Amino acid sequence: MTTTTIEKDTLDAVHTDESQIAVHWKEEEYYAPSPDFVKQANLTDPSVNERFAEKNFPQCFEEYADMLTWYERWNTVLDTQDPPFWKWFVGGKINASYNCVDRNLALYRNKAAIVFVPEPEDEEPQVLTYQELYVRVNEFAALLRSFCGLKAGDRVTIHMPMVAELPITMLACARLGVIHSVVFGGFSGEACGLRAADSGSNVLIYMDGYYRGGKMIDHKAGAEIAVATAAKEGQKIDKVLVWKRYPGKYTSATPMVPDRDFFVDEILKDFRRAIVDPVPMDSEAPLFLMYTSGTTGKPKGCQHRTGGYLAYVTGTSKYIQDIHPTDTYWCMADIGWITGHSYIVYGPLALGATSVIYEGLPTYPDAGRVWRIAERLGVNIFHTSPTAIRGLRKAGPDEPMKYNYHFKHMTTVGEPIEPEVWRWYYNIVGKTEAVIVDTWWQTENGGFLCSTKPAMDKMKPGSAGPGVPGIYPVIYDENNQEVKAGSGKAGNICIRNPWPGIFQTIWGDRDRFVRQYYAKYCRDTKSKRWQDWPYFAADGAVQAGDGYFRILGRVDDVINVAGHRLGTKELESACLTVTEVAEAAVVPVVDEIKGRVPEIYISLKPGYAANKEISDKVIATLETMIGKIARPKRVHIVPDMPKTRSGKIMRRVLAAISNTLDTGDITTLANPDVVEQIRITVQGKEKLAFREGPEDLKQFGTQE
Ligand code: WT7
Repeated sequence: MTTTTIEKDTLDAVHTDESQIAVHWKEEEYYAPSPDFVKQANLTDPSVNERFAEKNFPQCFEEYADMLTWYERWNTVLDTQDPPFWKWFVGGKINASYNCVDRNLALYRNKAAIVFVPEPEDEEPQVLTYQELYVRVNEFAALLRSFCGLKAGDRVTIHMPMVAELPITMLACARLGVIHSVVFGGFSGEACGLRAADSGSNVLIYMDGYYRGGKMIDHKAGAEIAVATAAKEGQKIDKVLVWKRYPGKYTSATPMVPDRDFFVDEILKDFRRAIVDPVPMDSEAPLFLMYTSGTTGKPKGCQHRTGGYLAYVTGTSKYIQDIHPTDTYWCMADIGWITGHSYIVYGPLALGATSVIYEGLPTYPDAGRVWRIAERLGVNIFHTSPTAIRGLRKAGPDEPMKYNYHFKHMTTVGEPIEPEVWRWYYNIVGKTEAVIVDTWWQTENGGFLCSTKPAMDKMKPGSAGPGVPGIYPVIYDENNQEVKAGSGKAGNICIRNPWPGIFQTIWGDRDRFVRQYYAKYCRDTKSKRWQDWPYFAADGAVQAGDGYFRILGRVDDVINVAGHRLGTKELESACLTVTEVAEAAVVPVVDEIKGRVPEIYISLKPGYAANKEISDKVIATLETMIGKIARPKRVHIVPDMPKTRSGKIMRRVLAAISNTLDTGDITTLANPDVVEQIRITVQGKEKLAFREGPEDLKQFGTQE
């Protein structure tokens, strides 16, 4: 048996208070928003609670739809005829690109829409005004329409880094009604190819390269693999469009394939000054797909609608993010995740704000970079994840104080935030001036589900807060009983009602959509009443006496790395492509910065001996098939996996060993002896005292 340690063994990190709060939860003190914040806030009228109360559902959401410009008004707010495939603002006609671009020209034509900040600090930030955005979106839409022959309903897969050309590409698609599917730039070409095939895209859009951590990454290299992977899945890619990081200069070493690969800057010359009328789309027409990991291997394409989605992200951007057109707003998420779609692109631009896009690593070239950007651009709203906050705190705990920026509002999203980290965010990053919202939601949800209303509700470190306006969460136990607020008991958080931001379906898999999100708590599958179809989020939560929800993490076998879901099955199938590997099991381990990272257990086929080359191969395979985000903390080669008598690998036992938790009852295993052997490989001969693990680790692998 061998163990490859990737980073310094950080098992000690498990001892910190930060990882313990999930079980040793104590009530935290409240923090009030500052009077200066309240004075200028969008949402201060207490009647909001009444307006969005259940008795006014679903009409309450017209307040959000009315923030948009429609070609035709809807005739039905919510159609429940085909549960749980809810339809919103039915009969309405709208275009998302028009709402994010054209309609801002009247008041904000030469105001900044997007500020792109290159990673190299000697490159100046680039400002795109709304007028400039309008020109570039129109020209690129003309190219997509005339050069690629794309039309409403077609799918396009976009694999691009954080550059201004990414929202330009998305908005050009939306202008035509073309459904975009953006794959996170850090994912591999293979991951991109699989998603392109699933969505049936025959056009891929790439960037040649981008800066990350001081290095120019050859991103276009992935296109070759993406095309080959898609082909293997039966999907032919006809065209690969390649944006250049520096117009006129190709930065990738990968050759262009004649008649398949085309440089955008060269073809755009034929479309100068082109104007493309936005296509009025049905409210229910899909706007985009966003792939996310679930409990089984295949990533699912979450299909989001046009009208309801745009209304929901605009309304929540205004009320929860407190975005005004005069704000300079910076969300550090990647546009390749749902947070970036909703709260870098669609929400902020629909409100005419200035949205900042930063190319690179937050700590490059040093721990002050983020705060220098904030100071230089006058950012006043800041949005990031606990992982980034922990990383910034570790890199430079006092850095924020050295820079003269002032945030009025800050967001945390993606995973539970430890109260101690929250307080650093509040005191040091926010300089006690900024209000914080801890927003809980998911790729499937389009926008926020739980959060405090920033000017109206007190903050409580570690708690997301109550449901946002129009969202009625509830916690159910395994017997369909409601777990009452203040009972101190955890359960499954569900949303009782539909909302305009909820996804329409899983692309091409209606059954899985119903099974995964609605089957568990549906009261009557024949019913057409929304009240009978609670949405199951697959997160554990507790509700305090004050009604605030505290999220404990996923209840299924999904590993939340730096706020992003990785499916264990997807990782395990990747490991199994290594010739020597017979079996693989992936478990989450506590990581000080990223929250959770995967740790891999493999057993080998007969005739192979454990060695470091095999571990290295597994790591390399995960990086190519999934991406760097899947890089495991350690790879353990074990003689056998702990298994039930029916042959199921007991991930729960492995997770316990990796995190020094109690392995619990193992007597029912087919091979209980292997557990101690594995324990010694991982922890060493000496028996370590068990730790009280965080709730998500204790629950990991228990649902069989
Ligand atoms: C999962 C969704 C949509 C945001 C980006 C991640 C966890 C998300 C919080 C929060 C505690 C959170 C949940 C959720 N999560 N926000 N504020 N507090 N946990 O999107 O990849 O779809 O992941 O992230 O477990 O189910 P995602």
